[in-house]
Amino acid sequence: MRRLRANTALRRMTAETQISRDNLIMPLFVRPGTGVKKEIPSMPGNYQWSPDTLADEAKALEDLGIPGVILFGIPEHKDAHGSEADAPDSVVCRAIEAIKKRCASLCVITDVCLCEYTDHGHCGIIAPNRTGVPEVDNDATLPRLVSEALAHARAGADIVAPSDMMDGRVGAIREALDREGFTDTPIMAYSAKYASAFYGPFRDAAESPPQFGDRRSYQMDPPNTDEAMREIALDIEEGADLVMVKPAMAYLDILRRASDRFDIPLAAYNVSGEFSAIKAAALQGWLDERAAAEELLTAIRRAGAQLILTYWAKDYARWNR
Ligand code: PBG
Repeated sequence: MRRLRANTALRRMTAETQISRDNLIMPLFVRPGTGVKKEIPSMPGNYQWSPDTLADEAKALEDLGIPGVILFGIPEHKDAHGSEADAPDSVVCRAIEAIKKRCASLCVITDVCLCEYTDHGHCGIIAPNRTGVPEVDNDATLPRLVSEALAHARAGADIVAPSDMMDGRVGAIREALDREGFTDTPIMAYSAKYASAFYGPFRDAAESPPQFGDRRSYQMDPPNTDEAMREIALDIEEGADLVMVKPAMAYLDILRRASDRFDIPLAAYNVSGEFSAIKAAALQGWLDERAAAEELLTAIRRAGAQLILTYWAKDYARWNR
């Protein structure tokens, strides 16, 4: 078996998994203001941008050959209904417009969720359940998500990506997009999104930690696999064009099973905690960041992901220029 491992050329020729910048999507955070570039302490090398500086960063990514970005907004004001989520002049809408002016072909994906916009930090509208306990109300949340997705599409988003894990949101968003003339705007569904400890740094970045309770009543329970297949099948039925498994590292088995089962582009979200854990070890000198990151991205591809949302997208493109 060792004959074909002897040198780089042989290993390149026989590699079963290819990874390229074409597979990578860079997550970006945008907040109001101008000239802002504020480093996120828990995610070294990642920043909160204002729309103007964000557009410059998007252009740099486009020039590096990265095909797409996904935007997360940090609004000026938060309230119980997440009012800024669907405002036509929301920070995400302004960011889309700024990027579109600067970049010819970059695909702009927007995260559609309320947690960045609500003062309680949950992904939906809170209402008392039958026993009077406050809970995320699924059906009261759907119109808010639909309205947010429409605002993004009107501002020029190329793909909308609902990440809230409410039941029925993909169908509701598809129906509204079609009705409003956005028949060609694809939906990337965060289909199998687990209630994970690995979102910690992101919640700092997006200033969106839940102010009470947790997200376990809407995000998936880590022990479950069959349920992920049902979630993905439902989202496809409701009209998703791309489906996602999230996080990636601890859920490679879910990716493999999903890619064996469904003939639809599959995305994996290599989340903030996965990035920051390796980054922190690298900063200590305990790991070689590039080697670890490339091994990990290869593993995510090998497991069956076509697209990878990763905070290493820009680094990967620079490392392999
Ligand atoms: C919004 C959302 C989250 C992430 C992506 N979209 C946070 C959450 O659900 O708590 C996490 C991304 C990451 O950790 O990199 N719902």
